[in-house]
Amino acid sequence: MAVNLRIPRRQRPRQDDEPTHDGVATPLVATPVTAGPVAERNGKTDTAPRPSPAPEAGTEPPVIRIRGVTKVYHLGETTVHALRGADLDVYRGELVAIMGPSGSGKSTLMNMIGCLDQPSSGTYELDGIETSTLSGDALADVRNRKIGFVFQSFNLLPRTPAVEQVELPLVYAGARDRRPRAVAALEAVGLGNRLGHRPAEMSGGQQQRVAIARALVTEPAIILADEPTGNLDTRSSEEIMELFQTLNQERGITILFVTHEPDIAEHTRRVVHIRDGRIYRDESVAKPVLATDVLATLPSEEDDE
Ligand SMILES: Nc1ncnc2c1ncn2[C@@H]1O[C@H](COP(=O)(O)OP(=O)(O)O)[C@@H](O)[C@H]1O
Ligand SMILES: [Mg+2]
Repeated sequence: MAVNLRIPRRQRPRQDDEPTHDGVATPLVATPVTAGPVAERNGKTDTAPRPSPAPEAGTEPPVIRIRGVTKVYHLGETTVHALRGADLDVYRGELVAIMGPSGSGKSTLMNMIGCLDQPSSGTYELDGIETSTLSGDALADVRNRKIGFVFQSFNLLPRTPAVEQVELPLVYAGARDRRPRAVAALEAVGLGNRLGHRPAEMSGGQQQRVAIARALVTEPAIILADEPTGNLDTRSSEEIMELFQTLNQERGITILFVTHEPDIAEHTRRVVHIRDGRIYRDESVAKPVLATDVLATLPSEEDDE
């Protein structure tokens, strides 16, 4: 594909293993603003994964920059204003929860951030690329290189073994080393022992972890999850949060997820509230909940290991 969508060099350090010619799984791995885990920076010894703090304002441009975004759907005679002028900045390495009533525009916003859709008006810059004017192909290219998407309903293929599900984005990208990369992604989500399992042979939590491995395998800078724990029990939800906290902390991946549950939202340092298509409150959480701590208090589950 000839479309040149490279990010200006000055906006980020170049990764050594970054391909220079194609749209294949560019490992634009988010670079922590300061090297080393937060615990280490703070001089503490505790290594539990914690949501990364946002970099100080002004040190780096936001990886997501949304200004005055509207989204209008026309349904026959009626017009639906799903977004009515949303503004949002998200910095590299943040873990952000998005909350809001049903129909407030959360999914519309996530789809736009994920380059599955484009605004009706306003601007959306993703890693320095203005996406609102891109063609469909160019938008898909940006999406494939930068975004991993996770859905409430997992969206797995019903009869396909886990490792093949996770390989799929690499197949589409024409990437090499698909099997070892898929295996590594499944190991990263704790499913190294479930490579050949089909969705029906796994719990909801395990299926969602396969979906996260599939989002992770292309090494996206950003993971977007639309109500990822909406269909899960408490323990499975905490396991997903533990995974997000680990991926955010250890790999510096920027993660945004939608949730209806305040308890789940508080696993982040930042909760963005949306109502009637606008962001009306941007709350910082002084002491985010650590999923590892919560899991330690839950009764252990009889697993089929
Ligand atoms: N593809 C679509 N066509 C028409 N209306 C839509 C479409 N997607 C969403 N909407 C409408 O836009 C509004 C916001 O929807 P959505 O973003 O899905 O909200 P949320 O995820 O917060 O529940 C709702 O009124 C919904 O009915
Ligand atoms: Mg929704």
